[in-house]
Amino acid sequence: MDGPEDPILPAGPIRPAEGVPTLTVAELEADPHGVFRAWRPRLPFVGHEVAGALVLRAADVDRLMRDPRLQATETLYPETRGIREGALFDLFAHGMLTANGAAHRRRRSPFTRTFAARMIEGVRPRIRAAAEGLVREWMPEGEIDLVARYTALIPARTIADILGLPREDVPRFTRLAYDVSRVLSFSFGPEDIPDLEAAAVALKDYVEALLAARRSAPRDDLLSRFLAEAEATGELTPQEVVVQIVQMIVGGTDTTRVAGAMQAALLLRHPEQWAAVARDPDLIPAAVAESLRYEPSVGSAARAARDDIPLEGYVVPAGRLVLLSTMSASRDETVYARPDTFDIRRADLPRLHPVFGGGAHRCIGEPLARVELEEALRALVRLAPCLRLAGAMPVLRGHSGIRRIDALRVAA
Ligand code: HEM
Repeated sequence: MDGPEDPILPAGPIRPAEGVPTLTVAELEADPHGVFRAWRPRLPFVGHEVAGALVLRAADVDRLMRDPRLQATETLYPETRGIREGALFDLFAHGMLTANGAAHRRRRSPFTRTFAARMIEGVRPRIRAAAEGLVREWMPEGEIDLVARYTALIPARTIADILGLPREDVPRFTRLAYDVSRVLSFSFGPEDIPDLEAAAVALKDYVEALLAARRSAPRDDLLSRFLAEAEATGELTPQEVVVQIVQMIVGGTDTTRVAGAMQAALLLRHPEQWAAVARDPDLIPAAVAESLRYEPSVGSAARAARDDIPLEGYVVPAGRLVLLSTMSASRDETVYARPDTFDIRRADLPRLHPVFGGGAHRCIGEPLARVELEEALRALVRLAPCLRLAGAMPVLRGHSGIRRIDALRVAA
């Protein structure tokens, strides 16, 4: 089962890159766009106090996603963050996101068919009906938090339906997934690790219990099919089976919850663009894409440098974690006209949206995320065209990994 796989890089001391400043997490978190804007024209990457290096320019980010000198981080990332064992560690040791070569292919391939764009189009009508149902539910209430009542529920219910998780479990598994997803950000310190670990254990236990139930009483759902196939072929270890489902739940909930909230907020902040989308629903895909560019819900993809990587006269030293900043790349002034302007009519977005990464790890959930975001927006502009921000514009916090949003108060 375990073919030759790439060796895991040791989490050794960070070797600083010569001539490149090392930025603190605090300054990056305080004003990520400002920091990226200031450094991007001057340097291809900056040092990162925890990760090592943060690559800033769109062309480099795009190319390095596919560069064999960089590999998925395996356990280098958790080790760098002080996590050396336990359920959180296992997510990285046994999951597709951080795997290389044969291990990555084994872990990802059971999901490719279900999440292919063609298959996902088939669930669009259900997502549309669910989104419209939710809007009708809260419309009469006046003021609500759109995150809790809408943008969190659409992806959570959809991933529950696709995998075969009971609908009544949504509050429980989403709470755990949001906690676990923090491990992919810089919003936690060593003092938070016990809480994140407890969430990872609870989510693992939850998935294990569901799998045990499907083993004894299979249903017509992805969970049952995935389990039966994994056990029949012996391609995945029992731990890998659990971790891939956990990763699907984490990947399928928080990212799209945040993106859905931000796209609504950005359009409400630009009423003429909101009105244009309401008048012409053909603009919806472009509005989704521009929102993801302007404020991506995932800020970077992490890699480990196997070799020294020369970048325009500077060198990212081997053995380092490297953050490929899709967030900085999305406002690269050499690619986008007026990159700091939110404009759903821009014509300069690349065909493959950079926010979903690139290469072998490009987001498997992209088609699903797009359909969820498009349908979430469609139902809002159709059924609640007079929606308005009822508080301050929310801030999307974080400079890397999955970014964070608290609430979005709106009035119908
Ligand atoms: C707006 C929403 C989303 C964004 C911005 C996003 C972003 C990303 C990015 C950048 C990667 C690549 C990471 C890397 O190269 O290291 C990725 C991978 C992944 N995403 Fe998403 N994602 C989103 C939604 C989803 C959804 C809905 C799912 C659930 C099906 C999902 C599941 C995954 C998984 C399992 C991977 C790992 C793929 C692999 O390693 O082969 N994502 N995502």
